[in-house]
Amino acid sequence: MTIRIFNDYHILSVNAANEIIAAVSSRPKSVLCLAAGDTPKETYQLLAERSRAENIDFSQCTFVGLDEWVSIASDNPGSCHFFLREHLFKPLNIDSAQIHLFDGMSRDLDAECERMNRLVRDHGGIDLMLVGVGMNGHIGFNEPGARADQYAHVADLDSTTRSVGQKYFSQSTELRQGITLGLKHFLESRRAILLASGAKKAEVIRIALTAPVNPEMPASLIRLHPQGLAMLDADAASLLGPIAAR
Ligand code: F6R
Repeated sequence: MTIRIFNDYHILSVNAANEIIAAVSSRPKSVLCLAAGDTPKETYQLLAERSRAENIDFSQCTFVGLDEWVSIASDNPGSCHFFLREHLFKPLNIDSAQIHLFDGMSRDLDAECERMNRLVRDHGGIDLMLVGVGMNGHIGFNEPGARADQYAHVADLDSTTRSVGQKYFSQSTELRQGITLGLKHFLESRRAILLASGAKKAEVIRIALTAPVNPEMPASLIRLHPQGLAMLDADAASLLGPIAAR
């Protein structure tokens, strides 16, 4: 795993957008799995601006959803669906045939997991997985204690995820479960980028990147990924100590 630290959120976002563009330029048929959430917002905005200015072609890419809140409809502004549609797919003019997201409203969530597992498999795996990190160290909805050998699954959300998740919703919303690609997808992706920004993520980043790899801290698994890259702004990296100088 490599760690790269940038002065601020803007420079981090510029570089994260560069990584996505580099992936698509080197493999136009890339399978991309890009997280929702606050952290990658500016990355996607810059991606859209550059895509327009430089005619970057995403038309052969496949987009696979990382996760979704269970029982939250895709037209709810707090859903991952809604976020990705507004911040990524619409600005990049991605055709709906290229997009495969979890349906958090599915009556058969196990079948939904199987559908996404099959989809990833049939597309030959994920080329680039770009994830954020939760305040409890989760990746997607792989909550603390998630198994590294698991593909897509339904997870009971822990209290941190349930309360922090309220920030995406305009009114108090019951968040009990999430449906998510698994840590096995993360470890098997050809390239994995973990993005973190802000002082509030500093402690979780310190534990993930310096304490022993531990399933209680899913983000620590990036250290097992041969092509893992942790991209941090200076605030998120502020507690890393000597490891940051490497
Ligand atoms: C979103 C997702 C989550 C977030 C994480 C960080 O698709 O998978 O794991 O990446 O909770 O969220 P932010 O970026 O809002 O701090």
